[in-house]
Amino acid sequence: MRQVFLNHRSYDIKENESVLDGLLRQGVEHPHACRAGTCQSCLCRLDNHLDENADKKLINPAWQKGLKPSLAAKNYFLPCVSYLEENQKISIALADLDQSSFSVRILEKFKFNHNVLCLRLSLADLNQHTSDQYLPGQYTHRE
Ligand code: FES
Repeated sequence: MRQVFLNHRSYDIKENESVLDGLLRQGVEHPHACRAGTCQSCLCRLDNHLDENADKKLINPAWQKGLKPSLAAKNYFLPCVSYLEENQKISIALADLDQSSFSVRILEKFKFNHNVLCLRLSLADLNQHTSDQYLPGQYTHRE
């Protein structure tokens, strides 16, 4: 049995099913977009209370591919590319957006099609952020 614990509930994950797909199948409204490990909108953090010393060995490096090393070191991972092994149980928490969010000004907004919106943004403080740290589509959350 593969299980994910989130917000005091457990969710069974099927064999060959990503953690994200398992959560969505069971009605969890979890942010996501590409489902391929690119946009990072599904970012989660391993919050394992099942075994306090197990954090490192529970994260497969493939779950963190493309993440900044600082996020990987804090046990962040991408559930859309995370597959549990038989009898593996993990506890997760949603990403703390305070660590990866910043203020922007919307310069332009238009629809590509019925479900894709293009925003051209300007960072409020260019000295704190370099544009090569982010890829288009990353870290987009409504507030
Ligand atoms: S949904 Fe895009 S990285 Fe997970």
